[in-house]
Amino acid sequence: MELQVGLGARSYPILIEGGILDRVGAYLAAHPAGARYGVISDETVAGYYGERLLAGLAEAGIAAELVTFPAGEAQKHLGTVERLARELVRRGFDRRDALIALGGGVPGDVTGFLAGIYLRGVPFVQVPTTLLAQVDSSVGGKTGVDLPEGKNLVGAFYQPRRVLCDLAVLTTLPREELIAGMAEVVKHGVILDADFFAFVEAELPAILNRDTGALTEVVRASCAAKAAVVEADETEAGRRAVLNFGHTLGHAFETLTGYSGPVHGQAVAMGMVAAARLARAMGLCDVALVERLCGLLERIGLPTEPPPLNPERVLEVLAHDKKVRRGRLVMVLPRAIGSVEIRDDVDTELIREVLRPRTG
Ligand SMILES: NC(=O)c1ccc[n+]([C@@H]2O[C@H](COP(=O)([O-])OP(=O)(O)OC[C@H]3O[C@@H](n4cnc5c(N)ncnc54)[C@H](O)[C@@H]3O)[C@@H](O)[C@H]2O)c1
Repeated sequence: MELQVGLGARSYPILIEGGILDRVGAYLAAHPAGARYGVISDETVAGYYGERLLAGLAEAGIAAELVTFPAGEAQKHLGTVERLARELVRRGFDRRDALIALGGGVPGDVTGFLAGIYLRGVPFVQVPTTLLAQVDSSVGGKTGVDLPEGKNLVGAFYQPRRVLCDLAVLTTLPREELIAGMAEVVKHGVILDADFFAFVEAELPAILNRDTGALTEVVRASCAAKAAVVEADETEAGRRAVLNFGHTLGHAFETLTGYSGPVHGQAVAMGMVAAARLARAMGLCDVALVERLCGLLERIGLPTEPPPLNPERVLEVLAHDKKVRRGRLVMVLPRAIGSVEIRDDVDTELIREVLRPRTG
């Protein structure tokens, strides 16, 4: 299955297939992105799939070398980018060469950023291996790393040349990572595609059992939704902000709870429900939408109630959010499943209200 992200001269295909990892070599031999490839991965993913990818590349007559870093969000910082860049220089990678990001969103974001700045830019290919990376982070060209002051504060828009999604690699993904990725899947349904939301509701058992057919549709529909938004607004001047549904409050929850709190997907789930409750309080949607959203998230195994935080601290973090425009907090609120609005007039009193612990 093949989709396109249409960005003029920088357009690229997304291939979604079980077993494509073993065909990356043949594919890149037919559609090269560089003379030689630096495969960047985390140690966990490299342990599962690094040698297999290298073997396929070698079989196709393509020179490639694997460079790894320890797994986890804590490694997504400038020090890792510098270390990898110096390793590539040491190994003689030049401007004719290209990078391959093999892994989840962390290797994807790090490699994309590195590709954007290494020798002022070399091409890169995404081979995403988590559900989150396949349905979200590998598409759209947002790359970057974290600072101690906050997540994703340094980065660049830099599009990959190709995205190659192998559904078979999801079989080794820990279940909690699969569930975390489902938050972004639900998000795509709410913001753009009511039929897809209904598909996820109907096919949830098959999806969580990693049925290839069900996962193909999950990745296809999510990538199609994301590609449509990115094509309309590559650098988030306007409409791309819809992808932040659930993320404004979700990021605040993550910031305030640190590593001891909800993981990203859980925080996004809590943030989506809180945004839906805000929309309901503002009369944008009915209570049935909130209940339907909560029902699906609960079946997936994602939380729907906000963490027990002082609402004043959440409001403080929101005031420093990247999504504040001219002093006004921008939030994405649902009108119906498949349709959202970008609003900058949410009353802070209502935010306090939805953050209050619910009784009964
Ligand atoms: N660029 C974007 O548009 C965008 C969008 C959403 C999220 N993100 C970023 O993505 C990151 C989160 O991505 P993630 O959840 O994929 O995290 P991750 O890359 O850290 O992967 C999660 C864990 O799963 C392991 N793993 C990956 N693939 C595996 C496989 N097939 N089998 C077994 N284990 C595997 C990894 O080693 C890691 O321990 C965050 O940094 C977030 O900011 C970026």
